[in-house]
Amino acid sequence: MYSDLAEYYDAVYSGKKDYRKESDRIVGLARRNGRSGGREWLDVACGTGQHIRYLSPRFRCTGVDASPQMLRIARRRNPGVRFVRGDMRSFRLRRQFDVVSCLFSAIGHVNTLSALRRTIECFVRHLKPGGVVLIEPWLTRKTFFAGRVHLLTVDTPDLKIARATYSMVHGSQSILRMHYLIAERGRGVRHTAIREVSGLFDHSTTLRLLRNAGLQARFLRRGFLPDRGLFVGVRPVVPPNRPAPSRSRR
Ligand SMILES: C[S@@+](CC[C@H](N)C(=O)[O-])C[C@H]1O[C@@H](n2cnc3c(N)ncnc32)[C@H](O)[C@@H]1O
Repeated sequence: MYSDLAEYYDAVYSGKKDYRKESDRIVGLARRNGRSGGREWLDVACGTGQHIRYLSPRFRCTGVDASPQMLRIARRRNPGVRFVRGDMRSFRLRRQFDVVSCLFSAIGHVNTLSALRRTIECFVRHLKPGGVVLIEPWLTRKTFFAGRVHLLTVDTPDLKIARATYSMVHGSQSILRMHYLIAERGRGVRHTAIREVSGLFDHSTTLRLLRNAGLQARFLRRGFLPDRGLFVGVRPVVPPNRPAPSRSRR
């Protein structure tokens, strides 16, 4: 989807998501939880830059994504914002931010436990002391069901899309078989099949990895989509186990 079908991403999802409302909520969470005091925001797996569109009037934003096709759309949408091609497991910007976000379950694409650990450590390396990490996770073994079917449609005068999905589970991974049928005025009709593999991690596992990486972390049940929730992690200003030096009383 993020390469060959990137040009249809917004048509498929934007009617189903309120990016403005989500951005307002994450700004509130970042302001309430953050202690670093700055305005540098890093959106990892930023996709077509829909959140950055609403964040950039309030924060100096940078976007990272693995897909050049998604980044091309993000750049067009957000002139003046810096976008970098990078893998969320290993990118290195050599800078730290007040907020690092990873939204719409993009972190699910990291589909092994060791890769999830490296990804979280990578986020924390890019976070200032007192900074906030916001992660919207993918589903878990308890909330993802094999054998389900789903149909999503886009029906505009010039573009018709039908996406039929079948869900499977293999070990600790979800597999979505998605068949897209796309008809576009002047361009004909095409069919593309996609197999999307994502990691199914319990919230307790993700929380443990966030805490092991040095964050004070919690899970909020109320996120943006049913059953997903949101992780909020704060990098302590004084690292744990290293108490601030006490002033000697003389
Ligand atoms: C579901 S989209 C979410 C995009 C955006 N955050 C949003 O809310 O619309 C997932 C994004 O993750 C990106 N992605 C997948 N694997 C990645 C990786 N290993 N590193 C960085 N980005 C990745 C894809 O290119 C895609 O843009």
